[in-house]
Amino acid sequence: MAIAFESLYSDIAGRSGKLTVGKKVIRTPALLPVINPHLQLVTPKEMEKMGVEALITNAYIFSQSKQFRDRALAEGLHKVLDFNGVIMTDSGSFQLSVYGQVSITNTETLSFQRDIGSDIWVPLDIPTSPNSDRATTESELAITMQRLKEAKDVFGPDAPLAGPVQGGIFEDLRERAGKEVTDLGFSFCPVGAVVPLMENYRYRDLVSVVMAAKRTLSPSACIHLFGAGHPSMFALATAMGCDLFDSAAYALYAKDGRYMTPHGSFRIGELIDLPCACSVCRSHTAEELRDAKDRERLLALHNLHVTLAEIARIRQAIFDGTLWELVDERCRAHPQLLAGYRALLDHAPALAQHDRVSKRRFFYRGDESCRRTEVLRYQQNLPRVAVGKTVLVAFEGGIRDEFETTLFFKPPFGPYPRELKETFPIGPCEIPEWDEVMVRKGLEGIRILREKNPTSTFTVSCQKRWEPVVRNVLGDIEVRHDAV
Ligand code: GUN
Ligand code: ZN
Repeated sequence: MAIAFESLYSDIAGRSGKLTVGKKVIRTPALLPVINPHLQLVTPKEMEKMGVEALITNAYIFSQSKQFRDRALAEGLHKVLDFNGVIMTDSGSFQLSVYGQVSITNTETLSFQRDIGSDIWVPLDIPTSPNSDRATTESELAITMQRLKEAKDVFGPDAPLAGPVQGGIFEDLRERAGKEVTDLGFSFCPVGAVVPLMENYRYRDLVSVVMAAKRTLSPSACIHLFGAGHPSMFALATAMGCDLFDSAAYALYAKDGRYMTPHGSFRIGELIDLPCACSVCRSHTAEELRDAKDRERLLALHNLHVTLAEIARIRQAIFDGTLWELVDERCRAHPQLLAGYRALLDHAPALAQHDRVSKRRFFYRGDESCRRTEVLRYQQNLPRVAVGKTVLVAFEGGIRDEFETTLFFKPPFGPYPRELKETFPIGPCEIPEWDEVMVRKGLEGIRILREKNPTSTFTVSCQKRWEPVVRNVLGDIEVRHDAV
């Protein structure tokens, strides 16, 4: 297999691993900066020194360029760009989505990508606009699928081909596309046509289409989110299982005088100080950066540093098992990101199936935390807790001898036996002072255990203030206030 992905660590549906392309290996998640050969604010060589292991460039631009076409064919892309890492080429589909047509066929662009020595080739898929109706989306998807099949037929099963997943905003079409791409044997699968969603802050729709595609794509496929450039959404996308991002945003924002942070962007004129640790920001004042002759380049460098640092942070979060905390933090930056985060939490049942068993910690960060995969999973496993005929759930205090079983209580998870006190998630879970939302969620756990053990009698021991909540969730359960 020319392209192979191996996951080494995972958290939620996010993975951190290795992508092997021919003889080259890159770490994931990864950012592939977009290179326009005519306009290099930061050179590929400089990027290599910044730790960039892969980049993406547009084969269509090369094929149409007097300056670069023949050189690329004669010397190869790596020589022309002076970059030793992985180079992925896009086909011209982006031009297709902007200008409506391109003067190249599917097999022509793929042959050209092969002939210039690209490491990953993209067929001429059709990025359907999210505003297209179902009939249009379906017929464009059919053309995309024909071209992917043609790519496999002409270039063989081991060619380093990407298989883009299209289907507009229709979940069932994204599912169909994911299945067909998988059946054709693609192991590198970009999710396409999401740029307009991200440009318009439609993160709910983004979650809907990526999750739909992921339902039918192989878990061993490497997933590239086409055109995802702003670092504030990388954590959210990674949590869904996206492994690669490509960004022209670092350069486009720079040209537009915009300064990226992991939480959002500023116009450079708005900043009175530079809140970043990169070399550009530590060697310039905000005013110097604003007035610098090479402002575009400096901003591009800064934007790239910020983007790469976010990827590093995500890899660490996956290793630690703290990706939900990072998603929560990032998604507070914009109301529409919060909407996307909440939409992702709606998928907790699917995500919980693959979420890892133990993590470094669980920080409670508000109501959303109650809907996290770890809470769901804990409560799914609760029926396995063995109890006697009389069960006390003690919110406070220790074992009471008059009960056959004493369980303790940790919101938002629920009841737990003493043996689980130090284990994940009960032990490493840090919560603030109890509030009604988390207690209510924990009480659901008691309800589950009670339903599993209908012949046992359950008693809750808690402070008076919790009794109405306990009654509300558990009805006629016996409640006492005997904590010492
Ligand atoms: N760049 C951004 N979106 C897309 C897409 O859907 N397909 C291709 N080939 N390139 C893209
Ligand atoms: Zn900086």
